[in-house]
Amino acid sequence: MTNAIEHSCDTLIIGSGAAGLTLALQVAQFSKVLILSKAQINDGSTFYAQGGIAAVFDKKDSIESHVSDTLIAGANLCDKNVVEMTARNAKSSLEWLIECGADFDQELSSKGEQQYHLTQEGGHSHRRILHAADATGKEVQTTLQAQVLKHPNITIFERYNAVDLIIDSTQDEPVVIGTYVWNRTLERVETVYAQHVALATGGASKVYQYTSNPDIASGDGIAMAWRAGCSVANMEFNQFHPTSLFHPQSNNFLLSEALRGEGALLKRPDGTRFMDDFDKRGELAPRDVVARAIDYEMKRLGVDCLYLDISHKDDAFITSHFPNIYEHCLSLGIDITKEAMPVVPAAHYTCGGVKTNTDGATNVKQLYAIGEVAYTGLHGANRMASNSLLECLVFAKAAAEHIKSSFNQHHIHASLAPWDESKVIDSDEEVVIQHNWHELRLFMWDYVGIVRTNKRLARAKRRVELLQAEIDEYYTNFRVSNNLLELRNLVQVAQLIIDCAIERKESVGLHYNLDYPNAKAVSGPTVLTPSKK
Ligand code: FAD
Ligand code: SIN
Repeated sequence: MTNAIEHSCDTLIIGSGAAGLTLALQVAQFSKVLILSKAQINDGSTFYAQGGIAAVFDKKDSIESHVSDTLIAGANLCDKNVVEMTARNAKSSLEWLIECGADFDQELSSKGEQQYHLTQEGGHSHRRILHAADATGKEVQTTLQAQVLKHPNITIFERYNAVDLIIDSTQDEPVVIGTYVWNRTLERVETVYAQHVALATGGASKVYQYTSNPDIASGDGIAMAWRAGCSVANMEFNQFHPTSLFHPQSNNFLLSEALRGEGALLKRPDGTRFMDDFDKRGELAPRDVVARAIDYEMKRLGVDCLYLDISHKDDAFITSHFPNIYEHCLSLGIDITKEAMPVVPAAHYTCGGVKTNTDGATNVKQLYAIGEVAYTGLHGANRMASNSLLECLVFAKAAAEHIKSSFNQHHIHASLAPWDESKVIDSDEEVVIQHNWHELRLFMWDYVGIVRTNKRLARAKRRVELLQAEIDEYYTNFRVSNNLLELRNLVQVAQLIIDCAIERKESVGLHYNLDYPNAKAVSGPTVLTPSKK
């Protein structure tokens, strides 16, 4: 049976987080936009962001310092031009967001003037994080959503999964012309034609057993781009956030780095501190250092978790700066004004992704990738806290300008080949999906996690190849479902992570391989191209 439901638009944006919505508002000034969202419009990492957004607002701070801190956190693997571009555009991007209605926390200066309250996070040598208490992402998402929902040139389809990009290979170079999409409500595949397509699908941290990310973070954009012929880079650098809450009734809950920025201390079960033994910056060392220190101490002591303690601060300070974290912990019986929070590291951020230039453009014509799905060169071997939402804003604007420069008002829509379902049947064994899903995430955690070895990576490679063959066969024979689509993408992303990790013969930033413990040489980014596979 074939299905011929076809939609069309000028600019198709896949994803409705900070990157997708910012791009939509910019390109809607000159084109008709369709946004696809796999779940509800607000269900992405953006909504859950806590700490804030980095930008130079303090007169004593400087763009040079923001650049230098980012380069240091990225272990000299960042692209300096990209870091400078991002830091230079940070303040104006934030001012645009404020004009859209975002309300960031303010305080009175010593001269009695109203100014933004800037918090501190690991790797930053100044207070430079604008925030809305400890729920900055909610403020960003709801502000952008409010603008998008009333825009006459923007349409949103919720519960639509992009499945694969449609590429016209008859031109001199491959051009994207649309995408197949799974309408989750009606359970059918439809097509969307577009002149320009932007992937804003977020990261892939769900490839790991423990993650701070929401369910949508299954690396769909990276896998789709790879299948469509895009290069990907630096997938070995998956960031593990040092402090997610360890509690049987609370999945994926992050304990913001801003807690440590405001004085919270990491402790062993016996109450002693340990971060100073690992780095002179203590609790404010970059995330890779803190996550590895926690992992090391947990394994050394044989304990399930360590502790983060802010109870020495005033109760009023804690409840006003961290109202959501306070309430969430209290609902689980932990009063953070009186006791420490149990913590473990969790997969948090995909530093690598679809390789783009400074316009957010990929190597496939008319195809863009922005936000966490992209590798722009900003983060290098480790992302500095609060540089991610910033990247979404800065690159969405750059991509919009580039799309405008090649936008053709008189473009003629080509017709798309409909989805062919003639050879597939309903799945007979959902257990295959469930089993492979768990197996994949567990071996990624155990073998390709915070600390790696050549032997563990080789083991992971053998397993991922087996799973990939099984899942491909399943995908060819059975009708698609959300779980199957995500699993197919996750296994592809896992393979890219393992291949990049095997290719990097050194320990740097987030990639720590015990077989190269003292490696000093830092090579460039790990770039994979589909033809090289
Ligand atoms: P997302 O916001 O994740 O949005 C992705 C969108 O793509 C969603 O709408 C999803 O439905 C859609 N999508 C995905 N696949 C498909 C598909 N196949 N078809 C259709 N739609 C699809 N960064 C900071 O800078 N500061 C912080 O304080 C901060 N705190 C964080 C706290 C938490 C708990 C987490 C998880 C992350 C945090 N980060 C923070 C990182 C930051 O939030 C993300 O990197 C950023 O929000 C990513 O935005 P995005 O628009 O790229 O993707
Ligand atoms: C946090 O609040 O700790 C998250 C900040 C980030 O990921 O940038």
